[in-house]
Amino acid sequence: KSAFEHILVSRPRPSVALVTLNRPKALNALSSPLFKELNHALELADNDKDISSLVLTGSEKAFAAGADIKEMQSKTFSEVYSTDFLANWAAIKSLRKPVIAAVSGYALGGGAELALMCDIILASPTAKFGFPEITLGVIPGGGGTQRLTNIVGKSKAMELVLTGRVFGAEEAERWGVVSKVVQTEKVPGDEHLPVVHEALEMASKIASFGQLATQAGKEAVNAALDLPLSEGLRLERRLFHSLFATNDQKEGMAAFAEKRKPNFTHS
Ligand code: CAA
Repeated sequence: KSAFEHILVSRPRPSVALVTLNRPKALNALSSPLFKELNHALELADNDKDISSLVLTGSEKAFAAGADIKEMQSKTFSEVYSTDFLANWAAIKSLRKPVIAAVSGYALGGGAELALMCDIILASPTAKFGFPEITLGVIPGGGGTQRLTNIVGKSKAMELVLTGRVFGAEEAERWGVVSKVVQTEKVPGDEHLPVVHEALEMASKIASFGQLATQAGKEAVNAALDLPLSEGLRLERRLFHSLFATNDQKEGMAAFAEKRKPNFTHS
Protein backbone atom coordinates (compact mmCIF):
# COMPACT_ATOMS: atom_id res chain seq x y z
CA LYS A 1 0.00 0.00 0.00
CA SER A 2 1.25 3.44 -0.92
CA ALA A 3 2.16 5.87 1.87
CA PHE A 4 1.45 8.82 -0.42
CA GLU A 5 -1.70 10.88 -0.91
CA HIS A 6 -1.34 12.07 -4.51
CA ILE A 7 0.60 9.24 -6.11
CA LEU A 8 0.68 5.44 -6.00
CA VAL A 9 3.90 3.48 -6.01
CA SER A 10 4.13 -0.22 -6.79
CA ARG A 11 6.52 -2.83 -8.13
CA PRO A 12 4.50 -4.74 -10.73
CA ARG A 13 7.55 -6.47 -12.22
CA PRO A 14 10.84 -7.51 -10.62
CA SER A 15 13.21 -4.51 -10.49
CA VAL A 16 10.63 -2.13 -12.01
CA ALA A 17 8.95 0.67 -10.04
CA LEU A 18 5.62 2.04 -11.26
CA VAL A 19 4.69 5.53 -10.10
CA THR A 20 1.10 6.55 -10.85
CA LEU A 21 -0.08 10.14 -10.52
CA ASN A 22 -3.32 9.92 -8.59
CA ARG A 23 -5.34 13.14 -8.25
CA PRO A 24 -8.27 11.99 -10.39
CA LYS A 25 -10.58 14.86 -9.41
CA ALA A 26 -8.09 17.41 -10.77
CA LEU A 27 -6.94 15.35 -13.79
CA ASN A 28 -3.59 14.92 -12.02
CA ALA A 29 -2.88 18.64 -11.92
CA LEU A 30 0.65 18.96 -10.65
CA SER A 31 0.33 20.76 -7.34
CA SER A 32 3.30 21.46 -5.09
CA PRO A 33 2.29 18.71 -2.60
CA LEU A 34 2.02 16.23 -5.49
CA PHE A 35 5.44 17.17 -6.80
CA LYS A 36 6.96 16.87 -3.34
CA GLU A 37 5.66 13.31 -3.09
CA LEU A 38 6.68 12.50 -6.65
CA ASN A 39 10.25 13.70 -6.14
CA HIS A 40 10.48 11.77 -2.88
CA ALA A 41 9.22 8.55 -4.49
CA LEU A 42 11.55 8.97 -7.47
CA GLU A 43 14.54 9.49 -5.20
CA LEU A 44 13.68 6.40 -3.16
CA ALA A 45 13.44 4.30 -6.34
CA ASP A 46 16.65 5.74 -7.77
CA ASN A 47 18.52 4.83 -4.59
CA ASP A 48 17.00 1.35 -4.30
CA LYS A 49 19.49 -1.23 -5.57
CA ASP A 50 16.66 -3.65 -6.34
CA ILE A 51 15.11 -1.24 -8.85
CA SER A 52 16.58 -0.92 -12.32
CA SER A 53 14.03 1.20 -14.18
CA LEU A 54 10.91 3.25 -13.58
CA VAL A 55 7.58 3.83 -15.29
CA LEU A 56 5.65 7.05 -14.67
CA THR A 57 1.98 7.20 -15.62
CA GLY A 58 -1.34 8.84 -14.83
CA SER A 59 -4.91 7.72 -15.47
CA GLU A 60 -6.63 6.70 -18.68
CA LYS A 61 -8.11 10.20 -18.98
CA ALA A 62 -5.07 12.23 -17.98
CA PHE A 63 -1.35 11.76 -17.61
CA ALA A 64 -1.45 15.25 -16.09
CA ALA A 65 -3.44 18.35 -17.10
CA GLY A 66 -0.63 20.72 -16.18
CA ALA A 67 0.55 22.69 -13.21
CA ASP A 68 -2.22 23.34 -10.69
CA ILE A 69 -3.82 26.52 -12.02
CA LYS A 70 -5.86 27.08 -8.87
CA GLU A 71 -2.70 26.96 -6.78
CA MET A 72 -0.86 29.37 -9.10
CA GLN A 73 -3.72 31.81 -9.64
CA SER A 74 -3.05 34.11 -6.68
CA LYS A 75 0.73 33.85 -6.58
CA THR A 76 2.74 37.06 -6.98
CA PHE A 77 6.01 37.71 -8.77
CA SER A 78 7.88 38.09 -5.49
CA GLU A 79 6.57 34.74 -4.28
CA VAL A 80 7.37 32.74 -7.41
CA TYR A 81 10.74 34.45 -7.93
CA SER A 82 11.98 34.27 -4.36
CA THR A 83 11.06 30.59 -4.01
CA ASP A 84 12.24 29.78 -7.56
CA PHE A 85 8.82 28.22 -8.18
CA LEU A 86 9.02 25.06 -10.38
CA ALA A 87 12.79 24.69 -9.93
CA ASN A 88 12.17 21.45 -8.00
CA TRP A 89 10.36 19.99 -11.02
CA ALA A 90 13.71 19.21 -12.59
CA ALA A 91 14.62 16.67 -9.89
CA ILE A 92 13.46 13.87 -12.20
CA LYS A 93 16.20 14.88 -14.65
CA SER A 94 18.92 13.95 -12.18
CA LEU A 95 17.76 10.35 -11.72
CA ARG A 96 20.40 7.86 -12.82
CA LYS A 97 17.92 5.13 -13.70
CA PRO A 98 15.79 5.35 -16.86
CA VAL A 99 12.22 6.59 -16.55
CA ILE A 100 9.58 5.69 -19.13
CA ALA A 101 6.48 7.90 -19.34
CA ALA A 102 3.30 6.03 -20.28
CA VAL A 103 0.92 8.74 -21.49
CA SER A 104 -2.82 8.26 -21.91
CA GLY A 105 -5.22 11.19 -22.30
CA TYR A 106 -4.20 14.75 -21.46
CA ALA A 107 -0.56 15.70 -21.12
CA LEU A 108 -0.93 19.46 -21.13
CA GLY A 109 1.38 22.22 -20.01
CA GLY A 110 3.34 20.94 -17.05
CA GLY A 111 2.04 17.44 -17.82
CA ALA A 112 3.70 17.51 -21.23
CA GLU A 113 6.81 19.01 -19.65
CA LEU A 114 6.94 16.23 -17.08
CA ALA A 115 6.68 13.64 -19.86
CA LEU A 116 9.44 15.43 -21.78
CA MET A 117 11.70 15.15 -18.73
CA CYS A 118 11.34 11.36 -18.82
CA ASP A 119 13.81 9.34 -20.91
CA ILE A 120 11.30 7.59 -23.18
CA ILE A 121 7.65 8.46 -23.88
CA LEU A 122 5.12 5.82 -24.92
CA ALA A 123 1.66 7.10 -25.83
CA SER A 124 -1.80 5.68 -26.08
CA PRO A 125 -3.69 6.73 -29.26
CA THR A 126 -5.83 8.88 -26.92
CA ALA A 127 -2.87 10.95 -25.77
CA LYS A 128 -3.33 14.71 -26.19
CA PHE A 129 -0.24 16.84 -25.78
CA GLY A 130 -0.14 20.61 -25.74
CA PHE A 131 1.20 23.79 -24.21
CA PRO A 132 -1.90 25.86 -23.35
CA GLU A 133 0.02 28.23 -21.03
CA ILE A 134 -0.38 31.08 -23.54
CA THR A 135 -4.15 30.87 -23.05
CA LEU A 136 -3.56 31.55 -19.34
CA GLY A 137 -1.39 34.61 -19.90
CA VAL A 138 1.91 32.82 -19.24
CA ILE A 139 4.39 30.56 -21.02
CA PRO A 140 5.65 27.05 -20.19
CA GLY A 141 7.81 27.18 -17.07
CA GLY A 142 8.80 23.56 -16.61
CA GLY A 143 11.25 23.32 -19.50
CA GLY A 144 8.75 23.07 -22.35
CA THR A 145 10.13 25.84 -24.56
CA GLN A 146 13.61 24.31 -24.41
CA ARG A 147 12.92 20.56 -24.49
CA LEU A 148 10.18 20.76 -27.11
CA THR A 149 12.36 22.93 -29.37
CA ASN A 150 15.25 20.47 -29.02
CA ILE A 151 13.01 17.73 -30.34
CA VAL A 152 10.72 19.30 -32.93
CA GLY A 153 12.76 22.31 -34.07
CA LYS A 154 12.04 26.02 -33.88
CA SER A 155 9.13 26.55 -36.27
CA LYS A 156 6.92 23.82 -34.87
CA ALA A 157 7.83 24.65 -31.27
CA MET A 158 6.94 28.30 -31.90
CA GLU A 159 3.62 27.28 -33.40
CA LEU A 160 2.76 25.01 -30.48
CA VAL A 161 3.87 27.40 -27.74
CA LEU A 162 2.32 30.51 -29.30
CA THR A 163 -1.02 28.98 -30.31
CA GLY A 164 -1.47 26.44 -27.51
CA ARG A 165 -2.72 23.93 -30.09
CA VAL A 166 -3.27 20.42 -28.78
CA PHE A 167 -1.60 17.63 -30.77
CA GLY A 168 -2.31 13.93 -30.75
CA ALA A 169 -0.27 10.76 -30.39
CA GLU A 170 0.23 10.32 -34.12
CA GLU A 171 1.76 13.77 -34.63
CA ALA A 172 3.81 13.35 -31.46
CA GLU A 173 5.25 10.10 -32.80
CA ARG A 174 5.94 11.54 -36.25
CA TRP A 175 7.88 14.43 -34.70
CA GLY A 176 9.87 12.21 -32.34
CA VAL A 177 8.19 13.51 -29.17
CA VAL A 178 7.07 9.96 -28.38
CA SER A 179 8.96 6.82 -29.29
CA LYS A 180 5.89 4.68 -29.94
CA VAL A 181 2.09 4.76 -30.01
CA VAL A 182 0.71 1.69 -28.28
CA GLN A 183 -2.60 0.28 -29.51
CA THR A 184 -5.51 0.06 -27.12
CA GLU A 185 -6.34 -3.65 -26.96
CA LYS A 186 -6.22 -4.75 -23.34
CA VAL A 187 -3.61 -7.40 -22.66
CA PRO A 188 -5.38 -10.47 -21.21
CA GLY A 189 -4.44 -11.05 -17.60
CA ASP A 190 -2.91 -7.62 -17.13
CA GLU A 191 -4.75 -5.06 -15.03
CA HIS A 192 -2.85 -2.11 -16.53
CA LEU A 193 -3.73 0.07 -19.50
CA PRO A 194 -2.07 -1.24 -22.68
CA VAL A 195 0.33 1.71 -22.78
CA VAL A 196 1.36 1.04 -19.19
CA HIS A 197 1.70 -2.67 -19.93
CA GLU A 198 4.02 -1.88 -22.83
CA ALA A 199 6.04 0.54 -20.70
CA LEU A 200 6.40 -2.13 -17.99
CA GLU A 201 7.57 -4.64 -20.61
CA MET A 202 10.14 -2.14 -21.87
CA ALA A 203 11.24 -1.34 -18.32
CA SER A 204 11.63 -5.08 -17.63
CA LYS A 205 13.73 -5.47 -20.74
CA ILE A 206 15.97 -2.62 -19.59
CA ALA A 207 16.10 -4.17 -16.11
CA SER A 208 17.44 -7.42 -17.60
CA PHE A 209 20.72 -5.65 -18.39
CA GLY A 210 23.43 -4.32 -16.10
CA GLN A 211 22.55 -1.13 -14.25
CA LEU A 212 26.00 0.37 -14.76
CA ALA A 213 25.82 0.11 -18.54
CA THR A 214 22.24 1.41 -18.50
CA GLN A 215 23.27 4.38 -16.41
CA ALA A 216 26.21 5.11 -18.71
CA GLY A 217 23.98 4.83 -21.79
CA LYS A 218 21.50 7.29 -20.31
CA GLU A 219 24.27 9.69 -19.34
CA ALA A 220 25.78 9.55 -22.82
CA VAL A 221 22.51 10.09 -24.72
CA ASN A 222 21.62 13.02 -22.45
CA ALA A 223 25.02 14.55 -23.13
CA ALA A 224 24.11 14.75 -26.82
CA LEU A 225 21.56 17.45 -25.93
CA ASP A 226 23.88 19.47 -23.71
CA LEU A 227 27.40 19.22 -25.08
CA PRO A 228 29.07 20.16 -28.35
CA LEU A 229 29.60 17.06 -30.54
CA SER A 230 33.34 16.72 -29.85
CA GLU A 231 32.76 16.83 -26.08
CA GLY A 232 29.83 14.42 -26.32
CA LEU A 233 31.88 11.96 -28.35
CA ARG A 234 34.72 12.20 -25.88
CA LEU A 235 32.36 11.60 -22.94
CA GLU A 236 30.82 8.61 -24.73
CA ARG A 237 34.21 7.05 -25.37
CA ARG A 238 35.37 7.59 -21.79
CA LEU A 239 32.18 6.05 -20.43
CA PHE A 240 32.63 3.14 -22.84
CA HIS A 241 36.22 2.69 -21.60
CA SER A 242 35.10 2.84 -17.98
CA LEU A 243 32.69 -0.07 -18.46
CA PHE A 244 35.71 -2.32 -19.02
CA ALA A 245 36.32 -1.94 -15.29
CA THR A 246 33.00 -3.65 -14.51
CA ASN A 247 32.16 -7.28 -13.84
CA ASP A 248 29.16 -6.89 -16.10
CA GLN A 249 31.39 -6.27 -19.14
CA LYS A 250 33.39 -9.42 -18.38
CA GLU A 251 30.20 -11.39 -17.79
CA GLY A 252 28.36 -10.06 -20.84
CA MET A 253 31.19 -10.81 -23.24
CA ALA A 254 32.00 -14.18 -21.64
CA ALA A 255 28.34 -15.20 -21.91
CA PHE A 256 28.33 -14.29 -25.60
CA ALA A 257 31.49 -16.32 -26.25
CA GLU A 258 30.10 -19.29 -24.26
CA LYS A 259 26.69 -19.05 -25.97
CA ARG A 260 24.78 -18.65 -22.69
CA LYS A 261 22.63 -15.99 -21.04
CA PRO A 262 24.57 -13.39 -19.06
CA ASN A 263 24.01 -13.01 -15.34
CA PHE A 264 24.56 -9.33 -14.67
CA THR A 265 25.32 -8.36 -11.08
CA HIS A 266 25.34 -4.56 -11.51
CA SER A 267 28.94 -4.47 -10.43
N1 CAA B 1 -5.08 22.83 -12.58
C1 CAA B 1 -6.03 22.73 -11.65
N2 CAA B 1 -7.17 22.05 -11.82
C2 CAA B 1 -7.35 21.44 -13.01
C3 CAA B 1 -6.40 21.51 -14.05
C4 CAA B 1 -5.21 22.24 -13.78
N3 CAA B 1 -4.21 22.33 -14.67
N4 CAA B 1 -6.86 20.82 -15.11
C5 CAA B 1 -8.07 20.32 -14.76
N5 CAA B 1 -8.37 20.70 -13.50
C6 CAA B 1 -9.58 20.40 -12.75
C7 CAA B 1 -10.76 21.23 -13.22
O1 CAA B 1 -10.72 22.51 -12.65
C8 CAA B 1 -11.92 20.40 -12.76
O2 CAA B 1 -12.09 20.62 -11.39
P1 CAA B 1 -13.60 20.91 -10.79
O3 CAA B 1 -14.32 19.62 -11.04
O4 CAA B 1 -13.33 21.19 -9.35
O5 CAA B 1 -14.13 22.05 -11.57
C9 CAA B 1 -11.40 18.96 -12.92
O6 CAA B 1 -9.98 19.06 -12.98
C10 CAA B 1 -11.86 18.32 -14.21
O7 CAA B 1 -11.54 19.17 -15.28
P2 CAA B 1 -12.59 19.63 -16.40
O8 CAA B 1 -13.96 19.69 -15.82
O9 CAA B 1 -12.07 20.89 -17.01
O10 CAA B 1 -12.47 18.41 -17.42
P3 CAA B 1 -12.77 18.42 -18.98
O11 CAA B 1 -12.73 16.99 -19.39
O12 CAA B 1 -13.96 19.25 -19.29
O13 CAA B 1 -11.50 19.20 -19.63
C11 CAA B 1 -9.14 19.70 -19.90
C12 CAA B 1 -10.22 18.65 -19.56
C13 CAA B 1 -9.30 20.14 -21.36
C14 CAA B 1 -7.78 19.07 -19.67
C15 CAA B 1 -9.33 20.93 -19.00
O14 CAA B 1 -9.41 20.50 -17.64
C16 CAA B 1 -8.21 21.94 -19.06
O15 CAA B 1 -8.14 22.71 -20.00
N6 CAA B 1 -7.31 21.97 -18.04
C17 CAA B 1 -6.24 22.92 -17.95
C18 CAA B 1 -5.12 22.59 -18.90
C19 CAA B 1 -4.03 23.64 -18.84
O16 CAA B 1 -4.22 24.80 -19.13
N7 CAA B 1 -2.81 23.24 -18.42
C20 CAA B 1 -1.67 24.10 -18.32
C21 CAA B 1 -1.50 24.55 -16.92
S1 CAA B 1 -0.29 25.83 -16.76
C22 CAA B 1 1.18 25.03 -16.62
O17 CAA B 1 1.25 23.84 -16.69
C23 CAA B 1 2.38 25.94 -16.38
C24 CAA B 1 3.70 25.27 -16.59
O18 CAA B 1 4.33 25.40 -17.61
C25 CAA B 1 4.33 24.50 -15.53
